[in-house]
Amino acid sequence: MSDQKINKGHSENYFGDYRDFWWNKDFVDLTAQRLELNKLGSVLDVGCGNGHWTRILAPYLQKEASVTAVDSDPRWFSENAELQNFFSATGNPFQLKKGDAQNLPFPDAQFDLVTCQTVLIHVPEPQKALKEMKRVLKPGGTLLCVEPNNIVQSLIKTSISKNESVEESLDHIKYKLIIEKGKKKLGKGDNSLGDLLPGMFAMEDLKNVEVRLSDKAIAMYPPYDNEEQLATLKQWMKGSSWNSTTQKDIDFFSAAGEAYMQFYFEYQEKYANRDAHIMGALQREQYHAAGGSLMYLVSGIK
Ligand SMILES: C[S@@+](CC[C@H](N)C(=O)[O-])C[C@H]1O[C@@H](n2cnc3c(N)ncnc32)[C@H](O)[C@@H]1O
Repeated sequence: MSDQKINKGHSENYFGDYRDFWWNKDFVDLTAQRLELNKLGSVLDVGCGNGHWTRILAPYLQKEASVTAVDSDPRWFSENAELQNFFSATGNPFQLKKGDAQNLPFPDAQFDLVTCQTVLIHVPEPQKALKEMKRVLKPGGTLLCVEPNNIVQSLIKTSISKNESVEESLDHIKYKLIIEKGKKKLGKGDNSLGDLLPGMFAMEDLKNVEVRLSDKAIAMYPPYDNEEQLATLKQWMKGSSWNSTTQKDIDFFSAAGEAYMQFYFEYQEKYANRDAHIMGALQREQYHAAGGSLMYLVSGIK
C-alpha cells in the first residue's frame, strides 16, 4: 500500500466511521420486513453511543415514529448535537437520556421496539438488562438485540496467520479467552455473549424468538481502497473507539487469575513483533482476509 493511502488513515475527515459499513442495506431491509418495523411507532435504543444503530433503524419505523436513545456514558451527551440535528432533519421526535441498561429510566410498557447493538457484551448483568428492556416494552412489542461472538475472530485466517503452527494458533485463542475471562471477572461483560442470547430471551419468557446472523463481511485485500476498507484501516490504527481509558491486557490477565500471568509474559515476548508484522504486510500490500465475523440478531415478542 502506498504511503499516501496509509496516511489518509490518519485523517478524521477523509474516512467514514467503520460502523457505517457494518451492515448490508438489503439485509437491514429484509430484517425490517421480517420484524414488520413499519408498524412500530416508538423505539428505544439502549446503549446508543453516537447513534449508529438508532440512525440505521429509524427510517424503517412508522413515519415520524418517536425515537428515544439512552446511554450510561456522559461523553455522548456533550457530543450529541449531531444526533439531535439528524433527527430534527428527519422529523422524528427525539430524546436522548442518560441511564443504565440495568435500570432503565422509563416507565413500564412505553415502547413498540426496544433494541441494542453491541451493548450487552459490556454490561455486568446482561440478564438484568434484558429484564429491564422487556419491562419498558409494550405488550406485543419487539425486543431486538444485536450482539456478537467475538472469540471466533481468533480463528479467522489471514494471509499472515495461514502458515502458523497449531501451537501458535492455540496461543492466540488462549490469549483472547483469558482476556474474555478477565473482562467478565472485572464485571465488564462478556465479549461473546451473543451465543447465549436466545436462551436468555427464553428465560425472560419472550415469544417468537428468532435468531439470525448478519451477512456482512469486510474483506481486506490490496489495494485496500474502497470506502469500507479505508474506514476499517482507520479503526485498526486507532484501536477501540469505545473505551476512553483502554484497559490494558495485563489487567484482564491479572483479573482472570495469577496462574495466567506466566503465559501473558511468554506470549508478549514470543509475539512482540506481531502487530508490526501485520502493519508491514499492509504497507507491502501482502495482507488479505475475508473478514468474517459472527454478529447475531436475536428478536422476540413481549
Ligand atoms: C460498543 S458501543 C455501541 C454503541 C452503539 N450501540 C452502536 O452500535 O454504535 C457500547 C455502548 O454501550 C454503552 N453502555 C455500556 N454499558 C452500559 C450500560 N450499563 N447502560 C447503558 N449503556 C451502556 C457504552 O457507553 C457505549 O456507548
